[in-house]
Amino acid sequence: MSADAVSVLSVARILPVLTVPSASMAVPLAEALAMGGALCAEVTFRTWAAEDVVKKMVGHGGIVVGAGTVVTAEQAERAVAAGARFVVSPGFDVGVVAVCRAAGIPVVPGIATATELMKALRAGTDTVKLFPAEPLGGIRMVRALAAPFPQARFVPTGSIGPEQAPAYLAHPSVVAVGGSWMATPRHMQRGEWAEVRRLTAEAVQRSAT
Ligand code: 3PG
Repeated sequence: MSADAVSVLSVARILPVLTVPSASMAVPLAEALAMGGALCAEVTFRTWAAEDVVKKMVGHGGIVVGAGTVVTAEQAERAVAAGARFVVSPGFDVGVVAVCRAAGIPVVPGIATATELMKALRAGTDTVKLFPAEPLGGIRMVRALAAPFPQARFVPTGSIGPEQAPAYLAHPSVVAVGGSWMATPRHMQRGEWAEVRRLTAEAVQRSAT
């Protein structure tokens, strides 16, 4: 991962993970996140709208937009073409890493074991998504992996909420924490942009303390 994306994530500390049902939601969502103080967000490739959402959010500006749930090289190509500034994957895939490398786009592969982390480090990706963080043991898993791999930087994601985030963020190996709690598909479908803004602001403020 290139220094610029690491620095965005390490300054942002909070990475909203967005599964957006419709491209019509992209602009109000980007506005709510930016007004809440988010510096970046990950748009998951789990809905048909994902590429359009990336394009619209990038066009709108205000936050650095990446693509998430990128599990194939072909999806990575589409994410890059849509304008994603970084790519996140739930797992480690050499094809995804290769596409991002060739495009000069930072990639954050997912890892869940020491073996997967070793593969990621060998591929030169020392910033990894620890996924799914809470089922894997939460902050205890971060501590356990950080001990033998002090060079690794983690973006724990998966079943994390506002209660769990501060403990992760207090660990020196954690760059940022990802999660969907600030902007769920339910919030989006109901147009609850003020609530998205409030939850984002709360998360950002708590991450700074
Ligand atoms: C992801 O893809 O990163 C996760 O599904 C987001 O995690 P959460 O929905 O459990 O916060």
